[in-house]
Amino acid sequence: MSGAGTPDFFYREAQRLGYVARSAFKLLQIQKQHKLITQGSSVLDLGCAPGAWLQVACQSLGPLKNGGTVVGIDLKKVKVPPLYCDARVRTVCADVMKLPKNQVRALSPRHKGFSVVLSDMCPLVSGITTRDAALSAGVRNAST
Ligand SMILES: C[S@@+](CC[C@H](N)C(=O)[O-])C[C@H]1O[C@@H](n2cnc3c(N)ncnc32)[C@H](O)[C@@H]1O
Repeated sequence: MSGAGTPDFFYREAQRLGYVARSAFKLLQIQKQHKLITQGSSVLDLGCAPGAWLQVACQSLGPLKNGGTVVGIDLKKVKVPPLYCDARVRTVCADVMKLPKNQVRALSPRHKGFSVVLSDMCPLVSGITTRDAALSAGVRNAST
Protein backbone atom coordinates (compact mmCIF):
# COMPACT_ATOMS: atom_id res chain seq x y z
CA MET A 1 0.00 0.00 0.00
CA SER A 2 1.12 3.59 -0.45
CA GLY A 3 1.50 5.99 2.49
CA ALA A 4 -1.93 7.47 1.76
CA GLY A 5 -3.58 4.07 2.16
CA THR A 6 -4.34 3.77 -1.57
CA PRO A 7 -2.82 0.70 -3.21
CA ASP A 8 0.12 1.86 -5.32
CA PHE A 9 1.31 0.45 -8.65
CA PHE A 10 3.76 -2.09 -7.18
CA TYR A 11 1.25 -3.28 -4.58
CA ARG A 12 -1.28 -3.92 -7.34
CA GLU A 13 1.31 -5.59 -9.57
CA ALA A 14 2.38 -7.87 -6.72
CA GLN A 15 -1.25 -8.87 -6.19
CA ARG A 16 -1.77 -9.45 -9.88
CA LEU A 17 1.34 -11.59 -10.30
CA GLY A 18 0.92 -13.55 -7.07
CA TYR A 19 3.86 -12.18 -5.09
CA VAL A 20 3.18 -11.98 -1.37
CA ALA A 21 4.67 -8.46 -1.12
CA ARG A 22 5.67 -5.67 -3.47
CA SER A 23 9.26 -6.01 -2.19
CA ALA A 24 9.49 -8.73 -4.86
CA PHE A 25 10.17 -5.98 -7.38
CA LYS A 26 13.29 -4.83 -5.51
CA LEU A 27 14.91 -8.24 -5.88
CA LEU A 28 13.62 -8.64 -9.45
CA GLN A 29 15.37 -5.35 -10.29
CA ILE A 30 18.59 -6.42 -8.52
CA GLN A 31 18.47 -9.73 -10.40
CA LYS A 32 17.94 -7.95 -13.69
CA GLN A 33 20.93 -5.67 -13.13
CA HIS A 34 23.37 -7.93 -11.31
CA LYS A 35 22.22 -11.56 -11.79
CA LEU A 36 23.18 -12.46 -8.22
CA ILE A 37 21.29 -15.73 -8.23
CA THR A 38 22.18 -18.27 -10.88
CA GLN A 39 21.51 -21.95 -11.51
CA GLY A 40 22.61 -23.98 -8.48
CA SER A 41 23.02 -20.99 -6.13
CA SER A 42 22.51 -21.57 -2.43
CA VAL A 43 20.65 -18.52 -1.18
CA LEU A 44 20.27 -17.29 2.38
CA ASP A 45 17.55 -14.65 2.88
CA LEU A 46 17.83 -12.84 6.21
CA GLY A 47 14.53 -11.34 7.39
CA CYS A 48 12.43 -13.22 4.83
CA ALA A 49 8.82 -12.61 5.95
CA PRO A 50 6.35 -12.62 4.29
CA GLY A 51 8.36 -14.40 1.58
CA ALA A 52 8.38 -12.33 -1.62
CA TRP A 53 12.18 -12.59 -1.92
CA LEU A 54 11.89 -16.35 -1.36
CA GLN A 55 9.58 -16.43 -4.39
CA VAL A 56 11.92 -14.37 -6.58
CA ALA A 57 15.01 -16.28 -5.37
CA CYS A 58 13.45 -19.65 -6.18
CA GLN A 59 12.21 -18.38 -9.53
CA SER A 60 15.74 -17.16 -10.30
CA LEU A 61 17.15 -20.65 -9.71
CA GLY A 62 15.21 -21.89 -12.72
CA PRO A 63 13.58 -25.32 -12.95
CA LEU A 64 13.72 -27.71 -9.99
CA LYS A 65 16.05 -30.05 -11.90
CA ASN A 66 18.66 -27.29 -12.00
CA GLY A 67 19.15 -27.61 -8.24
CA GLY A 68 19.97 -24.85 -5.81
CA THR A 69 18.48 -24.00 -2.46
CA VAL A 70 16.84 -21.09 -0.66
CA VAL A 71 16.78 -20.74 3.13
CA GLY A 72 14.89 -17.88 4.73
CA ILE A 73 15.23 -16.79 8.33
CA ASP A 74 12.88 -14.45 10.15
CA LEU A 75 11.75 -13.57 13.66
CA LYS A 76 8.27 -14.48 12.43
CA LYS A 77 7.25 -17.98 11.44
CA VAL A 78 7.01 -17.93 7.64
CA LYS A 79 4.93 -20.29 5.56
CA VAL A 80 6.68 -20.83 2.22
CA PRO A 81 4.48 -19.16 -0.43
CA PRO A 82 3.15 -21.86 -2.76
CA LEU A 83 3.48 -19.75 -5.91
CA TYR A 84 6.99 -19.60 -7.46
CA CYS A 85 8.47 -21.62 -4.54
CA ASP A 86 9.17 -25.35 -4.59
CA ALA A 87 10.87 -28.01 -2.48
CA ARG A 88 14.16 -26.09 -2.61
CA VAL A 89 12.77 -23.41 -0.27
CA ARG A 90 12.58 -23.68 3.51
CA THR A 91 12.31 -21.24 6.36
CA VAL A 92 13.63 -21.02 9.88
CA CYS A 93 12.18 -18.94 12.70
CA ALA A 94 15.06 -17.25 14.56
CA ASP A 95 16.70 -13.95 15.44
CA VAL A 96 19.61 -13.69 12.98
CA MET A 97 21.45 -11.36 15.34
CA LYS A 98 21.62 -14.17 17.87
CA LEU A 99 22.28 -17.11 15.54
CA PRO A 100 25.82 -18.45 15.84
CA LYS A 101 27.73 -18.60 12.54
CA ASN A 102 28.09 -22.38 12.70
CA GLN A 103 24.31 -22.81 13.04
CA VAL A 104 23.75 -20.68 9.94
CA ARG A 105 26.37 -22.66 8.04
CA ALA A 106 24.66 -25.87 9.13
CA LEU A 107 21.58 -24.73 7.19
CA SER A 108 23.54 -24.60 3.93
CA PRO A 109 24.02 -27.49 1.48
CA ARG A 110 26.67 -29.89 2.81
CA HIS A 111 27.37 -27.26 5.51
CA LYS A 112 29.63 -25.44 3.06
CA GLY A 113 28.03 -22.02 3.37
CA PHE A 114 25.78 -20.01 1.08
CA SER A 115 26.79 -18.54 -2.27
CA VAL A 116 24.34 -15.62 -2.03
CA VAL A 117 23.23 -13.79 1.11
CA LEU A 118 20.26 -11.45 0.83
CA SER A 119 18.85 -9.18 3.48
CA ASP A 120 15.95 -6.82 3.51
CA MET A 121 15.77 -6.90 7.30
CA CYS A 122 14.33 -3.98 9.16
CA PRO A 123 12.98 -3.53 12.66
CA LEU A 124 9.29 -3.16 13.40
CA VAL A 125 8.73 0.53 12.69
CA SER A 126 6.67 2.82 14.89
CA GLY A 127 6.08 5.78 12.56
CA ILE A 128 8.12 8.01 14.90
CA THR A 129 10.97 9.12 12.61
CA THR A 130 13.71 9.54 15.20
CA ARG A 131 12.80 6.31 16.98
CA ASP A 132 12.69 4.38 13.70
CA ALA A 133 16.02 5.84 12.54
CA ALA A 134 17.60 4.75 15.83
CA LEU A 135 16.05 1.28 15.52
CA SER A 136 17.40 0.92 11.99
CA ALA A 137 20.84 1.96 13.15
CA GLY A 138 20.67 -0.67 15.87
CA VAL A 139 20.73 1.88 18.68
CA ARG A 140 18.97 0.70 21.80
CA ASN A 141 18.29 2.28 25.15
CA ALA A 142 16.44 1.34 28.32
CA SER A 143 13.05 2.38 26.89
CA THR A 144 13.18 0.12 23.81
C1 LIG B 1 10.83 -5.66 5.01
S1 LIG B 1 10.56 -7.23 5.79
C2 LIG B 1 11.33 -8.32 4.63
C3 LIG B 1 10.52 -8.53 3.39
C4 LIG B 1 11.01 -9.72 2.58
N1 LIG B 1 12.31 -9.44 1.97
C5 LIG B 1 10.03 -10.09 1.49
O1 LIG B 1 10.30 -9.77 0.35
O2 LIG B 1 8.98 -10.69 1.77
C6 LIG B 1 11.75 -7.20 7.09
C7 LIG B 1 11.74 -8.46 7.94
O3 LIG B 1 12.91 -8.46 8.74
C8 LIG B 1 12.61 -9.25 9.87
N2 LIG B 1 13.63 -9.05 10.90
C9 LIG B 1 13.98 -7.89 11.51
N3 LIG B 1 14.94 -8.11 12.42
C10 LIG B 1 15.21 -9.45 12.38
C11 LIG B 1 16.11 -10.29 13.08
N4 LIG B 1 16.92 -9.80 14.02
N5 LIG B 1 16.14 -11.60 12.81
C12 LIG B 1 15.30 -12.11 11.85
N6 LIG B 1 14.42 -11.37 11.15
C13 LIG B 1 14.38 -10.05 11.40
C14 LIG B 1 11.23 -8.76 10.27
O4 LIG B 1 10.58 -9.72 11.09
C15 LIG B 1 10.57 -8.57 8.92
O5 LIG B 1 9.78 -9.67 8.59
